[in-house]
This record gives sequence, structure tokens and C-alpha cells, in this order.
Amino acid sequence: MIGGHGGNIFELARELGCRPEEILDMSSNVNPLGPPPGLLEHLARRLDAATRLPEVDNRGLLEAFSTLIGVRPERLVAGNGTTQFIYSIPAVLTVKSALIVGPTYSDYADACRLAGISPRFFLSSQARGFQPDLGRLSAEIRASGADTVFICNPNNPTGALVPADALKRLCREHPNVRFVVDESYLPFVPDGEAASLVRCGLERVIVLQSISKIFCIPGLRIGFLTAPREIAAAFARVLRPWSVNSLAQAAADFLAQAGGALEGFSAETRRFLTKERRRLQERLGGIAGLTVFPSAASFLLIRLPPQLKAGEVFRCFAKERVLIRDCSNFHGLSERYIRVSPKTADANRWFAERLAELAATGQPPRRLAGAATG
Ligand SMILES: Cc1ncc(COP(=O)(O)O)c(C=O)c1O
Repeated sequence: MIGGHGGNIFELARELGCRPEEILDMSSNVNPLGPPPGLLEHLARRLDAATRLPEVDNRGLLEAFSTLIGVRPERLVAGNGTTQFIYSIPAVLTVKSALIVGPTYSDYADACRLAGISPRFFLSSQARGFQPDLGRLSAEIRASGADTVFICNPNNPTGALVPADALKRLCREHPNVRFVVDESYLPFVPDGEAASLVRCGLERVIVLQSISKIFCIPGLRIGFLTAPREIAAAFARVLRPWSVNSLAQAAADFLAQAGGALEGFSAETRRFLTKERRRLQERLGGIAGLTVFPSAASFLLIRLPPQLKAGEVFRCFAKERVLIRDCSNFHGLSERYIRVSPKTADANRWFAERLAELAATGQPPRRLAGAATG
């Protein structure tokens, strides 16, 4: 079930005999600026919440968040990360035939297979920068007879973003098909709110919203699903009691009350990422035979020059306590692909220089001073 994920920082730390905090994790797609200012201090003050049960049905959390994202609480479900919803989709929606727009995050396929469904894939091509051809996709949806389509927007690991209007048009062309739209990385997109399908009003659109990435709190495990009322109620019915723990609920309280300050934080994140992605792209662009794909998200997909293999590059950086994502296990990619998430300006420069060195000489990278501070 968890085989499709990337490098495991705990495993690498064990292998290298160091602490996970001593590893610079460029494979992790969380906000490079860390959590919003004040959130960790708020949690430190609320540690006693761990001594009490959280609200069993997350009602307070839903009310607070519904105001923040502008949907009615009946259309919102909160769970133990969006992962909880991904794995309950096949049963709750009684999926019989699924089509996954890829190459993409492996959990949609894993969730289908666990439920005994063999999903089909619609793979976007490298020649199109992995931007899905929506005309062909529409034809494939019809031909496949799929009742459920999974699409991650912007997509992990390609970074490709389908404009909201085009995506809504696609959904309208197939009124009997359910579309699961994973918007976990949309908060990193400038004007991402306008690109969201959360308020699209379409009957069969289910949106996943992770707050692990933008607020850098993957360890707290909170995620949301937004859907028309009846679909949301079906997911709520199968939720395990206390699915969002007390500290996660305390974090959500903080976020819901932060209002404008949170908007400022997200805007700063987008500015930082736009700048660092562009710089990294320019630096890597100088390596002969290497391609960096345009990305709207917090990471970049890189096609390595032919002399480099993702597994070897992964190992070279790992030895230096830097974790990158070897993308060879993504269905539709190959051993030529890696994914990296920009961190500090210094770390990004170091990474680009070392990858260039590796491409030129086959020499392993030298240690980044203070790697873990990235
Ligand atoms: C596309 C995508 N969706 C969902 C998730 C799961 O996130 P969470 O369960 O923390 O909300 C991830 C995690 O990496 C992801 O990349």
C-alpha cells in the first residue's frame, strides 16, 4: 500500500546513522518557508489538548473552515489527511471503473487496487510538458466507460496545471462521471483560489484539499474533502470517530482565526517559490541534455541527461544527507526522472551546482554545509 511513495527520511537516517533532522529533504513538497508564524507557538501553548479527546465529528473544525474557504459546513468533511479520503473513495463512491490522469501521485491507483479495481491510466506526454490533452482525455473517458476520474491539479509530480475553465468544461461534458480533483498543491499557485473547483457547483465534482503542504504540517494529519451535500454526507458516514486529533484541531483553530495574516503568509510563499523555482530552473537549464518542466507547484520535475540514472543520482545525494525524489516508480515516468522541491536559496544553488558536476564528471556531490537547515 505504501510502496509508491518516495524516499523515506527515517530509513535514510537509519542507513546513514544520523538524525532525520540532519537530512535536507528536497523530496518533501511542503512549504519551504515552514508553518505560518505563530502556529507552533500556539500548539506549544495548547499541548494539554493531548490529554483530552478531540471533538468526535470535527464539527467545530468544519464550521471554522467553512468560513475560511467559503463553503457550507454540510459540503465539507475533515479527516486524517486527504489520504484518508483517497482510500475511502472506491467504497464510498462504489467505484467500478476508474481512470487516472497521469503520471501522478500513486495513492489513487493504490486505493483502487486495494478495493479490487484495476484502474486505467490516461498518460500525458513529455512532449507536451505533461500537460494533459483534454480533447483526447475526454474521448478516453467516453471510450473507457469510467465512472470515476482522478485528476491532480496542479499535478504531482509534473507540476502541470489545468486551467479551471477547461477542467469545468471537461466535467460538464461527462455529467454522469464523478471527478475527483486533488487540489493539494493549488494554494501554491498565484490566484489559485480562482482555479479551484470547490465552488464550481457541479453535481459530481469531489475536491480534495490538503493543508499539510501549504501550512507545512504533514505530521498533524488534517485534510478536507468538499463535495455536493449528499456525497459529503456519504463520506462523513464512514469516518472513524476522532479522525482528527486534538492537536490537529488546535492547529485548525489557529488557522481559521488567522484570517488576513494567513493570506499574507500564502502570498509570501508564492512569491518565494516563483523566484526560487525560476532561479533553479535557470541554473539547471545550463546542464546539457537536462529538461526542467514548467511547474505551478512547490516542486520541479526534472528529466536527467541520458548519462544519469535517477537511482544513482538519488544515492549520490543521499550519501551527502540530501534527499531527492527518484521518480522511476511513477507509472508513466522512468529512471530518467527526479523531482526536487526548492528550499533555501543557498540549498538550491548548491543542488544545481552539484547536479551539474555530476552530469559533467559522474562525481558524487560534496556535502552541503549545514544541509539540514534548508
Ligand atoms: C497529490 C497529493 N495528494 C494528497 C497527498 C496526501 O496528503 P495529506 O494526506 O497529508 O493531506 C499528497 C501527499 O504527498 C499528495 O502529493
